Amino acid sequence: MATALVTGGTSGIGKAFATELAERGYDLVLVARDESRLAQIAVEMREQFGVAVETLRADLAVRNDLDPIIGRLTDPQRPIEVLVNNAGFGLNASLLDDDVAIQERAMAVMCTAVLILGGAAGRAMKARGQGVIVNVSSVSAWIVKGNYSAIKRWVLTYTQALALELEGTGVQAAAVCPGWVKTELHERAGVARPNLPGWAWVDASEVARCALDGAAAGKVITIPTRKWRAAVWFLEHSPKALSRAISSKITKSRRSDG
Ligand SMILES: NC(=O)c1ccc[n+]([C@@H]2O[C@H](COP(=O)([O-])OP(=O)(O)OC[C@H]3O[C@@H](n4cnc5c(N)ncnc54)[C@H](OP(=O)(O)O)[C@@H]3O)[C@@H](O)[C@H]2O)c1
Repeated sequence: MATALVTGGTSGIGKAFATELAERGYDLVLVARDESRLAQIAVEMREQFGVAVETLRADLAVRNDLDPIIGRLTDPQRPIEVLVNNAGFGLNASLLDDDVAIQERAMAVMCTAVLILGGAAGRAMKARGQGVIVNVSSVSAWIVKGNYSAIKRWVLTYTQALALELEGTGVQAAAVCPGWVKTELHERAGVARPNLPGWAWVDASEVARCALDGAAAGKVITIPTRKWRAAVWFLEHSPKALSRAISSKITKSRRSDG
Protein backbone atom coordinates (compact mmCIF):
# COMPACT_ATOMS: atom_id res chain seq x y z
CA MET A 1 0.00 0.00 0.00
CA ALA A 2 1.27 3.55 -0.77
CA THR A 3 2.01 5.93 2.10
CA ALA A 4 1.27 9.66 2.53
CA LEU A 5 2.80 12.03 5.10
CA VAL A 6 0.62 14.94 6.26
CA THR A 7 1.93 17.74 8.48
CA GLY A 8 -0.75 19.16 10.75
CA GLY A 9 -2.82 16.07 10.02
CA THR A 10 -4.75 16.20 13.30
CA SER A 11 -7.09 19.14 12.68
CA GLY A 12 -8.94 21.15 10.03
CA ILE A 13 -7.58 20.94 6.49
CA GLY A 14 -4.78 18.52 7.45
CA LYS A 15 -7.24 16.08 9.04
CA ALA A 16 -9.37 16.34 5.89
CA PHE A 17 -6.28 15.44 3.80
CA ALA A 18 -5.58 12.47 6.08
CA THR A 19 -9.20 11.31 5.75
CA GLU A 20 -9.28 11.73 1.97
CA LEU A 21 -5.94 9.94 1.55
CA ALA A 22 -7.03 7.08 3.84
CA GLU A 23 -10.28 6.80 1.85
CA ARG A 24 -8.14 6.49 -1.27
CA GLY A 25 -6.25 3.62 0.38
CA TYR A 26 -3.06 5.35 1.56
CA ASP A 27 -1.31 4.40 4.77
CA LEU A 28 -0.54 7.53 6.76
CA VAL A 29 2.26 9.27 8.61
CA LEU A 30 0.79 12.13 10.66
CA VAL A 31 2.94 14.96 12.01
CA ALA A 32 1.89 17.48 14.71
CA ARG A 33 2.89 18.67 18.19
CA ASP A 34 0.04 17.32 20.34
CA GLU A 35 0.91 13.68 21.01
CA SER A 36 -2.43 12.61 22.54
CA ARG A 37 -4.33 14.09 19.62
CA LEU A 38 -2.01 12.34 17.15
CA ALA A 39 -2.73 9.04 18.91
CA GLN A 40 -6.49 9.73 18.88
CA ILE A 41 -6.62 10.57 15.14
CA ALA A 42 -4.44 7.54 14.37
CA VAL A 43 -6.97 5.26 16.11
CA GLU A 44 -9.84 6.95 14.21
CA MET A 45 -8.14 6.47 10.83
CA ARG A 46 -7.21 2.84 11.53
CA GLU A 47 -10.72 1.96 12.71
CA GLN A 48 -12.55 3.88 9.99
CA PHE A 49 -10.41 2.99 6.97
CA GLY A 50 -8.29 -0.01 7.97
CA VAL A 51 -5.06 1.77 7.00
CA ALA A 52 -1.73 1.71 8.85
CA VAL A 53 -0.98 4.99 10.67
CA GLU A 54 2.35 6.17 12.09
CA THR A 55 2.66 9.35 14.11
CA LEU A 56 5.62 11.70 14.43
CA ARG A 57 5.50 14.33 17.17
CA ALA A 58 7.33 17.43 15.96
CA ASP A 59 7.25 21.19 16.33
CA LEU A 60 7.98 22.33 12.78
CA ALA A 61 9.32 25.63 14.10
CA VAL A 62 12.19 23.72 15.74
CA ARG A 63 14.91 22.82 13.23
CA ASN A 64 16.01 19.63 15.07
CA ASP A 65 12.44 18.33 15.08
CA LEU A 66 12.58 18.22 11.27
CA ASP A 67 15.34 15.59 11.18
CA PRO A 68 13.17 12.52 11.96
CA ILE A 69 10.65 13.72 9.33
CA ILE A 70 13.43 14.12 6.75
CA GLY A 71 14.63 10.63 7.72
CA ARG A 72 11.13 9.22 7.19
CA LEU A 73 10.66 11.05 3.85
CA THR A 74 13.99 9.75 2.49
CA ASP A 75 13.89 6.18 3.87
CA PRO A 76 14.38 4.02 0.74
CA GLN A 77 12.84 0.96 2.44
CA ARG A 78 9.58 2.77 3.27
CA PRO A 79 8.81 5.21 0.44
CA ILE A 80 6.45 8.16 0.93
CA GLU A 81 4.41 8.68 -2.24
CA VAL A 82 2.54 11.83 -1.14
CA LEU A 83 3.76 14.69 1.09
CA VAL A 84 1.23 17.29 2.21
CA ASN A 85 2.89 20.38 3.71
CA ASN A 86 -0.19 21.67 5.53
CA ALA A 87 0.70 22.65 9.12
CA GLY A 88 0.26 26.32 9.86
CA PHE A 89 -1.59 28.95 11.82
CA GLY A 90 -3.16 32.39 11.52
CA LEU A 91 -1.22 35.50 12.46
CA ASN A 92 -2.81 37.98 14.82
CA ALA A 93 0.09 40.45 14.80
CA SER A 94 1.09 43.76 13.31
CA LEU A 95 4.22 44.19 11.20
CA LEU A 96 5.06 47.10 13.51
CA ASP A 97 5.05 44.98 16.67
CA ASP A 98 8.25 45.19 18.67
CA ASP A 99 8.24 41.45 19.36
CA VAL A 100 8.47 39.47 16.11
CA ALA A 101 8.73 36.00 17.70
CA ILE A 102 5.34 34.91 16.35
CA GLN A 103 6.26 36.13 12.86
CA GLU A 104 9.51 34.14 13.02
CA ARG A 105 7.61 31.04 14.15
CA ALA A 106 5.13 31.46 11.32
CA MET A 107 7.92 31.70 8.76
CA ALA A 108 9.68 28.67 10.29
CA VAL A 109 6.52 26.50 10.18
CA MET A 110 4.97 27.71 6.92
CA CYS A 111 8.14 28.55 4.88
CA THR A 112 11.37 26.99 6.22
CA ALA A 113 9.81 23.62 7.12
CA VAL A 114 8.01 23.53 3.75
CA LEU A 115 11.30 24.25 1.96
CA ILE A 116 13.25 21.61 3.87
CA LEU A 117 10.61 18.86 3.81
CA GLY A 118 9.70 19.64 0.18
CA GLY A 119 13.36 19.35 -0.83
CA ALA A 120 13.86 16.08 1.05
CA ALA A 121 10.70 14.53 -0.40
CA GLY A 122 11.52 15.89 -3.87
CA ARG A 123 14.99 14.25 -3.85
CA ALA A 124 13.66 10.88 -2.70
CA MET A 125 10.70 10.94 -5.10
CA LYS A 126 12.86 12.05 -8.04
CA ALA A 127 15.20 9.08 -7.43
CA ARG A 128 12.15 6.77 -7.63
CA GLY A 129 10.65 8.64 -10.60
CA GLN A 130 7.29 9.27 -8.92
CA GLY A 131 5.55 11.13 -6.12
CA VAL A 132 3.34 14.08 -5.25
CA ILE A 133 4.07 17.11 -3.05
CA VAL A 134 1.08 19.28 -2.10
CA ASN A 135 1.72 22.59 -0.33
CA VAL A 136 -1.14 24.44 1.35
CA SER A 137 -1.17 28.10 0.31
CA SER A 138 -4.27 30.33 0.45
CA VAL A 139 -6.26 32.87 -1.55
CA SER A 140 -4.59 35.30 0.87
CA ALA A 141 -1.64 35.05 -1.54
CA TRP A 142 -3.58 37.36 -3.88
CA ILE A 143 -4.29 40.06 -1.34
CA VAL A 144 -1.90 42.06 0.82
CA LYS A 145 -2.70 41.36 4.45
CA GLY A 146 0.31 41.33 6.74
CA ASN A 147 2.96 38.64 6.86
CA TYR A 148 0.38 35.86 6.44
CA SER A 149 -0.25 36.96 2.83
CA ALA A 150 3.49 37.23 2.21
CA ILE A 151 4.02 33.71 3.59
CA LYS A 152 1.22 32.21 1.49
CA ARG A 153 2.54 34.04 -1.61
CA TRP A 154 5.95 32.52 -0.83
CA VAL A 155 4.37 29.03 -0.67
CA LEU A 156 2.76 29.64 -4.06
CA THR A 157 5.94 30.88 -5.77
CA TYR A 158 8.09 28.19 -4.10
CA THR A 159 5.72 25.47 -5.33
CA GLN A 160 5.79 26.81 -8.88
CA ALA A 161 9.60 26.85 -8.77
CA LEU A 162 9.71 23.31 -7.32
CA ALA A 163 7.35 22.09 -10.04
CA LEU A 164 9.69 23.53 -12.68
CA GLU A 165 12.73 21.83 -11.11
CA LEU A 166 10.84 18.53 -11.00
CA GLU A 167 9.48 18.77 -14.55
CA GLY A 168 9.95 15.51 -16.45
CA THR A 169 10.95 13.54 -13.33
CA GLY A 170 7.57 11.94 -12.67
CA VAL A 171 7.18 14.00 -9.48
CA GLN A 172 4.34 16.53 -9.22
CA ALA A 173 4.53 19.62 -7.00
CA ALA A 174 1.21 21.41 -6.47
CA ALA A 175 -0.16 24.26 -4.36
CA VAL A 176 -3.73 24.39 -3.11
CA CYS A 177 -5.14 27.84 -2.38
CA PRO A 178 -8.34 27.63 -0.33
CA GLY A 179 -10.63 30.50 0.53
CA TRP A 180 -11.83 30.61 4.14
CA VAL A 181 -12.31 27.24 5.85
CA LYS A 182 -14.01 26.58 9.21
CA THR A 183 -11.17 25.03 11.22
CA GLU A 184 -9.45 25.76 14.53
CA LEU A 185 -7.21 28.37 12.84
CA HIS A 186 -9.17 31.47 13.89
CA GLU A 187 -9.72 30.37 17.49
CA ARG A 188 -6.06 29.43 17.86
CA ALA A 189 -5.00 32.82 16.49
CA GLY A 190 -7.29 34.48 19.03
CA VAL A 191 -9.63 36.11 16.51
CA ALA A 192 -13.32 35.71 15.78
CA ARG A 193 -14.28 33.95 12.57
CA PRO A 194 -14.89 36.60 9.90
CA ASN A 195 -18.47 37.39 9.04
CA LEU A 196 -18.40 36.23 5.41
CA PRO A 197 -21.12 35.22 2.97
CA GLY A 198 -21.80 31.48 2.76
CA TRP A 199 -20.05 31.00 -0.60
CA ALA A 200 -16.75 32.29 0.84
CA TRP A 201 -16.52 29.29 3.21
CA VAL A 202 -15.01 26.18 1.67
CA ASP A 203 -15.40 22.75 3.17
CA ALA A 204 -12.09 21.25 4.34
CA SER A 205 -12.90 17.93 2.67
CA GLU A 206 -13.50 19.73 -0.64
CA VAL A 207 -10.09 21.43 -0.27
CA ALA A 208 -8.37 18.05 0.19
CA ARG A 209 -10.26 16.35 -2.64
CA CYS A 210 -9.66 19.21 -5.12
CA ALA A 211 -5.98 19.45 -4.16
CA LEU A 212 -5.31 15.73 -4.69
CA ASP A 213 -7.35 15.60 -7.91
CA GLY A 214 -5.62 18.76 -9.18
CA ALA A 215 -2.16 17.37 -8.46
CA ALA A 216 -3.06 14.05 -10.12
CA ALA A 217 -4.21 16.00 -13.20
CA GLY A 218 -0.84 17.81 -13.35
CA LYS A 219 -2.15 21.20 -12.13
CA VAL A 220 0.46 23.26 -10.29
CA ILE A 221 -2.11 25.60 -8.71
CA THR A 222 -5.55 24.48 -7.53
CA ILE A 223 -8.13 26.93 -6.19
CA PRO A 224 -11.10 25.01 -4.78
CA THR A 225 -14.58 26.21 -5.81
CA ARG A 226 -15.61 28.07 -8.93
CA LYS A 227 -16.46 31.26 -7.01
CA TRP A 228 -12.98 31.50 -5.50
CA ARG A 229 -11.41 30.87 -8.93
CA ALA A 230 -13.52 33.77 -10.22
CA ALA A 231 -12.51 35.97 -7.27
CA VAL A 232 -8.81 35.27 -7.88
CA TRP A 233 -9.24 35.93 -11.61
CA PHE A 234 -10.84 39.26 -10.69
CA LEU A 235 -7.97 40.16 -8.30
CA GLU A 236 -5.40 39.30 -10.99
CA HIS A 237 -7.12 41.30 -13.71
CA SER A 238 -8.53 44.29 -11.83
CA PRO A 239 -6.56 47.55 -11.60
CA LYS A 240 -3.91 47.37 -8.86
CA ALA A 241 -5.55 50.31 -7.05
CA LEU A 242 -8.75 48.29 -6.63
CA SER A 243 -7.05 45.16 -5.21
CA ARG A 244 -5.04 47.47 -2.95
CA ALA A 245 -8.26 49.07 -1.70
CA ILE A 246 -9.75 45.61 -1.01
CA SER A 247 -6.58 44.59 0.87
CA SER A 248 -6.64 47.81 2.87
CA LYS A 249 -10.28 47.25 3.88
CA ILE A 250 -9.58 43.66 4.98
CA THR A 251 -6.43 44.69 6.88
CA LYS A 252 -8.34 47.40 8.75
CA SER A 253 -11.36 45.19 9.48
CA ARG A 254 -9.39 42.36 11.05
CA ARG A 255 -5.90 41.17 11.67
CA SER A 256 -5.90 37.43 11.07
CA ASP A 257 -7.75 34.82 9.11
CA GLY A 258 -7.16 32.14 6.49
N1 LIG B 1 -8.67 27.86 7.83
C1 LIG B 1 -8.57 28.65 6.78
O1 LIG B 1 -9.45 29.51 6.52
C2 LIG B 1 -7.41 28.49 5.84
C3 LIG B 1 -7.51 29.03 4.54
C4 LIG B 1 -6.44 28.89 3.66
C5 LIG B 1 -5.30 28.22 4.06
N2 LIG B 1 -5.21 27.70 5.33
C6 LIG B 1 -3.98 26.99 5.70
O2 LIG B 1 -4.33 25.64 6.00
C7 LIG B 1 -3.34 25.06 6.83
C8 LIG B 1 -4.01 24.31 7.98
O3 LIG B 1 -4.73 25.22 8.78
P1 LIG B 1 -6.14 24.87 9.43
O4 LIG B 1 -7.04 25.98 9.10
O5 LIG B 1 -6.54 23.48 9.13
O6 LIG B 1 -5.75 25.06 11.00
P2 LIG B 1 -5.96 24.16 12.29
O7 LIG B 1 -7.31 23.54 12.32
O8 LIG B 1 -5.58 25.04 13.43
O9 LIG B 1 -4.87 22.98 12.14
C9 LIG B 1 -3.50 23.25 12.20
C10 LIG B 1 -2.71 21.94 12.21
O10 LIG B 1 -1.31 22.26 12.12
C11 LIG B 1 -0.63 21.70 13.25
N3 LIG B 1 0.44 22.62 13.62
C12 LIG B 1 0.34 23.94 13.93
N4 LIG B 1 1.54 24.44 14.30
C13 LIG B 1 2.42 23.42 14.21
C14 LIG B 1 3.81 23.29 14.47
N5 LIG B 1 4.55 24.32 14.95
N6 LIG B 1 4.41 22.09 14.29
C15 LIG B 1 3.67 21.03 13.86
N7 LIG B 1 2.37 21.09 13.58
C16 LIG B 1 1.74 22.26 13.78
C17 LIG B 1 -1.70 21.55 14.34
O11 LIG B 1 -1.40 20.50 15.28
P3 LIG B 1 -0.65 20.79 16.70
O12 LIG B 1 -1.26 22.03 17.28
O13 LIG B 1 -0.86 19.55 17.50
O14 LIG B 1 0.80 20.97 16.35
C18 LIG B 1 -2.90 21.15 13.49
O15 LIG B 1 -2.86 19.77 13.20
C19 LIG B 1 -2.44 26.23 7.30
O16 LIG B 1 -1.25 26.21 6.54
C20 LIG B 1 -3.27 27.47 6.95
O17 LIG B 1 -2.46 28.59 6.73
C21 LIG B 1 -6.25 27.82 6.21
